Amino acid sequence: MLQGARRRIDLLLGRRTEFPPPRPPDREDAASLAEEVGRWFAGAEARFERIFLAGKPLFVNRHERALFARLADLGVVERIGPSIYQPCVRLFPLYGRFIATDLLSHESSDQVFSLMFEQVYLVRNMDVQAGDRVLELCLGSGVNSLFAADAAAAVTGIDVNERALAFARFNEALSPGTAPLEGLQGSLYDPLDEDRTFDLILVNPPFELVPHDASWFLHSDGGEDGLDVVRALLPDTAARLAPDGRFEIITWSPGGAHGPLLVDLLREHLPGMRLTVHMLDAQPLDEHVEQFREAPGYDAFRERLAARGLEEVYFLFVHAAPSPTPGVEVVTPTAEIETCRALADHWL
Ligand SMILES: C[S@@+](CC[C@H](N)C(=O)[O-])C[C@H]1O[C@@H](n2cnc3c(N)ncnc32)[C@H](O)[C@@H]1O
Repeated sequence: MLQGARRRIDLLLGRRTEFPPPRPPDREDAASLAEEVGRWFAGAEARFERIFLAGKPLFVNRHERALFARLADLGVVERIGPSIYQPCVRLFPLYGRFIATDLLSHESSDQVFSLMFEQVYLVRNMDVQAGDRVLELCLGSGVNSLFAADAAAAVTGIDVNERALAFARFNEALSPGTAPLEGLQGSLYDPLDEDRTFDLILVNPPFELVPHDASWFLHSDGGEDGLDVVRALLPDTAARLAPDGRFEIITWSPGGAHGPLLVDLLREHLPGMRLTVHMLDAQPLDEHVEQFREAPGYDAFRERLAARGLEEVYFLFVHAAPSPTPGVEVVTPTAEIETCRALADHWL
């Protein structure tokens, strides 16, 4: 709502609301730029948040001018007045890294996904082991892969959206991991050689339940029950895992009396694995799909979901690993959820 009002003001003032992806800094400049951004953030957190999280223009003082000129050269900000800059990206401070994503005013379907609770949870809880070959499907800004690259031997990220890969390249240049990030464009496992396997496959897939006739962002359009991309990737997942390979997913799943549909799908496609299901949140389905109430075909969409007995939507992180005792274990990590929420709520 607020974002819509802000966009209208931007348009009225003739300000641009969509920008090309930022350009990665040269290797020689990247470390000093990251340091300079880090110093500015530490000393002027409220000003950083104003421009890079709230998306508002900033009057830049004389101490900030050189940094903003560097950022403008890369397309991270745009100068709109003698000392006034507007953001071209959102920039999220996360455990020593700065991760760029699209502005919320970028309303085209290729918007690169913002950071929120889920990336904080994934980054803190993903099971990356030293020497792992990691694959992240649905790479987006690259945030999860860059943290994985601090421990892994090699990280590959795949996204269907070329714009996401451009952001991931920028983010890697600014805050590289120890291992390089190989970014590939394409759908799910398609860009990989047939025999390529991984020790850990991670995914934060498109997750919203979207009526057929509604147009929605590529990053969140999970089809009518939110699980289209999950259904497309699961049949090939076991074959892409090395012996002892693990699979981890964070997403929303509808469910009924018998629990989340996602767990049924994982049991079907990953037999022999033990699933540790972290229950992160749950919402009545009506509340979850409220944003589509005015979309074409909403009533029929809602009836079809009800006919399947789907009345709740669950937010889950699932860790799947081979085990002599396959099955499902459900945990509710209350303290960890609160820690992640405290950080992510700051970005809203
Ligand atoms: C929810 S976002 C997650 C992005 C990132 N991993 C994160 O956690 O911030 C989902 C991403 O999946 C990508 N995507 C959608 N369909 C895809 C497909 N069939 N194959 C690969 N990527 C896809 C979108 O472009 C988007 O970047």
